[in-house]
Amino acid sequence: MKVLLKKRTLLIALFFAFEVCIFFFGRWSISCSDTVALTQRSEHDASQNHQIQVTLPKTFLLIVIMSSPSDSDIRDTIRNTWLKLSAKGPNHFRWIFPIGTSKLDETTMSKLNLEQTQFEDLAFLSNVTESYDNLAKKTAQAIYYSTKNYDFQFLLKVDSDSFVRVGAILKSLRDIANPRLYWGFLDGRAKPFRTGKWKEIDWMLCDRYLPYQLGGGYVISHGLASFVSNNLQYLKYYVSEDVSLGVWLAGTNAKYVHDPRFDTEYQSRGCNNEYLITHKKSPQQMKALFSNMKQTGKLCFKEFQGRPSYVYDFSVPPSECCTRRNNSVIP
Ligand SMILES: *[C@@H]1O[C@H](CO)[C@@H](O)[C@H](O)[C@H]1NC(C)=O
Ligand SMILES: *[C@@H]1O[C@H](CO)[C@@H](O)[C@H](O)[C@H]1NC(C)=O
Repeated sequence: MKVLLKKRTLLIALFFAFEVCIFFFGRWSISCSDTVALTQRSEHDASQNHQIQVTLPKTFLLIVIMSSPSDSDIRDTIRNTWLKLSAKGPNHFRWIFPIGTSKLDETTMSKLNLEQTQFEDLAFLSNVTESYDNLAKKTAQAIYYSTKNYDFQFLLKVDSDSFVRVGAILKSLRDIANPRLYWGFLDGRAKPFRTGKWKEIDWMLCDRYLPYQLGGGYVISHGLASFVSNNLQYLKYYVSEDVSLGVWLAGTNAKYVHDPRFDTEYQSRGCNNEYLITHKKSPQQMKALFSNMKQTGKLCFKEFQGRPSYVYDFSVPPSECCTRRNNSVIP
């Protein structure tokens, strides 16, 4: 009987020990997963805090103006002309001048640092060496920089010789506001350059370039900008930056919008008061256009068309997309 009792006690003791063990083990595992959850949560909180701490400057349209390191006079002209055309604040538009600073000499760099102290609108791209045949990389890096440093809805890339009617483009953009927008003057029938400065030695995608918005100025949505910046390592850089962007976006569901109010070809078509952007303007011409805008509210001193325009025909093959019509009212 005593033995039996002892055995029972032992069994009960063992049973409790086992239970405690399970309980303890269970608690441990619970506390273990709690710890994991807590760790994850605090990391999540930390990243949220981090995001809160470095809230990116918010703007509807980020204007990315391409210029060379030595173009400080041109940048000044732009700051004092078309960038002053809209009284809307930074919630509506902001701008940056991306500059490749890799392999830049010290004198140029110190001048740029001074300019930056004064205006705080330069974007230094340390991975970019400035050169005409490196513009596609500069564009990609500028887009990457933009997505990392600004909370924008649309990005407008223009050249330093483009004049932009900022107020008018903001207004039109609010009307379009497509989240996959790729907006500009579209060309689908251009043949690759095989000789000269812009020759593409590596082009093998097609007999023509793929449809692309001409480089004097185009708008992409934040979504498309993120697509570019998330895929930097896979992008192929062609000599022409606008051709390159057309290729990068060709695999996306971008919303191609052709707009003859983008006078953004390699030569200007003339002057039309409807133009949102007009390309190939010297600083002198920019000042004249700005003064027209100020005095009359209109872009042109006198409207004229030196080169006919076109409306892109999406119903035919790209090689037949773009028929120019003389004496038409297309801007
Ligand atoms: C810049 O270059 C460095 C070194 O090659 C590389 O690690 C980094 O990812 C590059 N940054 C971007 C944004 O391409
Ligand atoms: C348009 O006019 C130009 C010069 O006036 C001429 O060379 C060209 O053939 C014309 N194009 C069309 C489509 O009529």
